[in-house]
Amino acid sequence: MDNEGSKTREQLIDELVELIVESQRVVVFTGAGISTESGIPDFRGTDGLWTKYDPGDFTYQKFISDPEARQRLWKMRETLGFSWDDFQPNPAHYAVAELEQLGKLDCIITQNVDGLHQKAGNSEDRVIQLHGNMQWVKCLTCGDRHRFEEVEKWVENGAEDPQCVQCGGILKPEAIFFGEAMPVGETMEAEKRSRACDLCIVIGSSLVVYPAALMPQFALNSGAKVAIINEGETELDNAAHIRISGKAGEIMPEVLQRVKSKLGRD
Ligand code: APR
Repeated sequence: MDNEGSKTREQLIDELVELIVESQRVVVFTGAGISTESGIPDFRGTDGLWTKYDPGDFTYQKFISDPEARQRLWKMRETLGFSWDDFQPNPAHYAVAELEQLGKLDCIITQNVDGLHQKAGNSEDRVIQLHGNMQWVKCLTCGDRHRFEEVEKWVENGAEDPQCVQCGGILKPEAIFFGEAMPVGETMEAEKRSRACDLCIVIGSSLVVYPAALMPQFALNSGAKVAIINEGETELDNAAHIRISGKAGEIMPEVLQRVKSKLGRD
């Protein structure tokens, strides 16, 4: 890896730009850190959610067995002060969307459930959501689906523990909770795309949660270049070819500006 200490951020950005210009199949792997500049706290960074809330409250078992745990989630606007549809993409998301417009993006593999890549303009079929999403809620018995904000309204209108209108089953957001099985199709597709890419750019992830964190490693082991853009340290820093510390919302637009200029697309 190019040791950051020996190179300036400018030099590291130029190296990443070169890799993107040379690449045909870029996989962008994102975590909560790409969305903090949109106002969504991450989990393990400074002031992360897990520094305030017990992740044990967000396990699948707890959610399906404890009505109070369910109520805390439906009332997240009260408890966390926000709901998922309140947020907008930031410059980092728009820069990743431009990679698709330039024909460089194979796909985005995201751990995020905020839907901001799609809101920024990336095509649905280019976004693999390994940890599901918080935009949709599904009945665990019959599969009936509702938008999250619709169920939120039922709770605001007094429903203590909203149940499926079709069968009375438990309603749960489609986000993957701790202890819940990963979506098989998405996980297999993510592995396949990681192994086939020529460049994997990791943005805003501590790379500590598996199997998601395996994806950049699959890319590395398959001969792809790996670049990491992250504020905090990650588990893959020493193995990455390029490691740039800093805010995604500042670095990624700069990277795309230089890529477009090199491609004569500015
Ligand atoms: N720019 C760059 N990096 C940032 C920014 C930013 N603006 N803001 C935060 N970061 C970095 C943090 O320093 C941290 O290293 O992003 C990383 C986010 O790491 P985590 O909070 O661990 O988030 P993530 O890697 O996505 O967590 C993976 O854990 O709790 C589960 O299911 C949850 O999908 C989540 C998974």
